[in-house]
Amino acid sequence: MHRRYWIIEEYQLQTAIPPLGNYVTNFRLKYPITGSPAQANVNIPSRSLGGAAQKLIWAVGGGKGGIGKTLLTSNMGVYLSWLNKKVVVVDMDLGGANLHTSLGVPTPKTTLSDLVLGKVEDVRQLVQPTTVRNLSLISGAQDSIGIANMRHMHKTRLIRKFREIDADFILLDLGAGTAFNTLDFFLLADQKIVVVTPEPTSIENGYRFMKAAFYRMLRANTHSPYVRQLIESAMDSKDSRGISSPRELLNEVSRLSPSDGLELQKKMEKFCISLIVNQVRVRKEAELGKNIQLVCERYFGMRLDYMGYLPYDNAVWQSIRRRVPFILEAPNSTAVTHLEEILRNLIRFHTQNNER
Ligand SMILES: Nc1ncnc2c1ncn2[C@@H]1O[C@H](COP(=O)(O)OP(=O)(O)OP(=O)(O)O)[C@@H](O)[C@H]1O
Ligand SMILES: [Mg+2]
Repeated sequence: MHRRYWIIEEYQLQTAIPPLGNYVTNFRLKYPITGSPAQANVNIPSRSLGGAAQKLIWAVGGGKGGIGKTLLTSNMGVYLSWLNKKVVVVDMDLGGANLHTSLGVPTPKTTLSDLVLGKVEDVRQLVQPTTVRNLSLISGAQDSIGIANMRHMHKTRLIRKFREIDADFILLDLGAGTAFNTLDFFLLADQKIVVVTPEPTSIENGYRFMKAAFYRMLRANTHSPYVRQLIESAMDSKDSRGISSPRELLNEVSRLSPSDGLELQKKMEKFCISLIVNQVRVRKEAELGKNIQLVCERYFGMRLDYMGYLPYDNAVWQSIRRRVPFILEAPNSTAVTHLEEILRNLIRFHTQNNER
């Protein structure tokens, strides 16, 4: 254990490079374990970060358990912190908080429950350091009873409190499934990331999650009672009107009232999900992301951008057993190269969306 911490410290010394310019911050990282320089370049346009107002909240969700949400959150957190960004990862998995374990942090004393139940006033009291410089953690609720009944305004307030934290990135590790809390925290984030794996059940749950989030977003933004009613029936799988996708919903609303249809369409166009495919084992599976993107756009009428995939890698699960993020344990693994590609795309995607 001591040796590992020493390696991380050494790593930090090597990566403590000042920003290279005002506009683009570009880092070349060196991995201390092998001593070999890695092509670890991710550009972060500094204008899209920096100020408190521009703090980025990324939520990592997905329809199923065990697909790598926590793994991706913790490793993306470490990588962004290497880029000299202050990062806080937050465990929002209300039923099975374990983000701290994936970062090798002991069971925390103060957690989100303390904030939600009013035992702690200031969110900063929950932020605890990790062994990685610039990376901190807010641990998940060990007792989810209070959180399970959160009203929407309390969720909005909680996200607002996260924005008060001194950090460039806040990464939310969500629990599996389509519980309202999970969907709402997903929707309140600036970047909405969905993880799927190539198994049919995971893909099916992934679609279900995206559709549920999409309908919930539309419902929250609609004032017209009858459009709201249509959305609610579309959310119900036993819907007698037979609306089975957001596109069909839009068609139905447009048919009944073209002006409401136009409004709905604008909301649909603004909303976008970022997709990551995890645990890819064979070449064909790597095409899944593009296929899901096509289905979402053509069939569902939902915007979705594919960010890349992470291969299934023995180094990944071995690192999890050692409770160390794989980018620290296996920095030369192919999984790290793919993670970099994903981060590059996420940052590019965010910047482009902001410029629209
Ligand atoms: N790319 C990968 N290569 C190898 N193993 C992986 C990979 N991704 C995930 N795993 C395995 O899947 C397990 C589950 O990952 P993780 O805990 O991140 O899932 P999760 O989506 O957060 O699940 P939950 O919803 O239950 O919290 C890991 O412990 C690891 O063993
Ligand atoms: Mg998890």
